[in-house]
Amino acid sequence: MSVDVEKLLRPIDTPLPEFPAKYMTLAGGEQLVIRQVTRDEIPDILPHVEPLMHVERDFYDIVASRVYAELLGFYMHRVQDEYVLAAQIEGELVAIVNGRIVNPDVGMSYHTLALRRGLRIGAHAFAAKMEYHMDVLGQKEVLIVAESPIGFRRWMIEYKLEKRFHIPHELGGCPSYSLTRELFEAARGSLIVGRRPVPEKLLKKAQAAILAPTDPPRPPADLLAATRSLYDSTATALLGQRNKLGGTGNA
Ligand SMILES: CC(C)(COP(=O)(O)OP(=O)(O)OC[C@H]1O[C@@H](n2cnc3c(N)ncnc32)[C@H](O)[C@@H]1OP(=O)(O)O)[C@@H](O)C(=O)NCCC(=O)NCCS
Repeated sequence: MSVDVEKLLRPIDTPLPEFPAKYMTLAGGEQLVIRQVTRDEIPDILPHVEPLMHVERDFYDIVASRVYAELLGFYMHRVQDEYVLAAQIEGELVAIVNGRIVNPDVGMSYHTLALRRGLRIGAHAFAAKMEYHMDVLGQKEVLIVAESPIGFRRWMIEYKLEKRFHIPHELGGCPSYSLTRELFEAARGSLIVGRRPVPEKLLKKAQAAILAPTDPPRPPADLLAATRSLYDSTATALLGQRNKLGGTGNA
């Protein structure tokens, strides 16, 4: 008797409503579109995440490595009830956010990855995924962790997240924080902004193709310029690399 192993390995996704795309005008005048992406689009996103796995700065390396695995997990049906949103400017990929539905009341926020810096694009993309959990799925809370100090500032401090330290988060079992409905409502209109519907031309441009980021985060020229390395007394490998590069002082 033959057994279709793939059927056993593949979780059956719960049918979930779609995130209604939204847009906003950034401080620089660009129009940012945030929309849900389908499984078929994942291969167009992966090549833009891969280089960030080697950016030893602001924790891009660990976050990109995990995002890559999560996107692949979604693409290959190895995660239960995952969703992925993309933020685009003129088609260009500028942020990725994802998460998962644990049960009808509880959402699990996975990652936020900004591919263009300095415009709070990551913050807007994170806000969109909170909207998905709260407004679209009607959940009671979203469990969140931060892997970087910038993430901690953006989520835990700006949203005043509540501790749920007795709940290990799916990202490495770290103690969770929670965005409750009350905190979400408090952030509506300030941290959570955007307009709907997205003008047809703008949405079509975003859907037509996921274009490469034009100014993605890059590794620092001097590896010790990465703040993490500066305070890492075990960074002997990085010291060796800096010597090779011929650097002397701290950048
Ligand atoms: C966390 C993250 C999503 C926030 O994205 P964002 O809201 O668009 O914010 P930016 O990363 O552009 O800017 C964050 C800070 O970096 C600094 N910054 C701004 N432009 C920068 C640039 N071009 N290069 C480096 N740092 C910059 C600023 O000090 C800014 O601080 P602010 O709070 O005063 O604005 C993004 O930093 C990121 O993807 N980091 C790596 C992965 C990560 O940590 N994800 C979150 C896991 S919890």
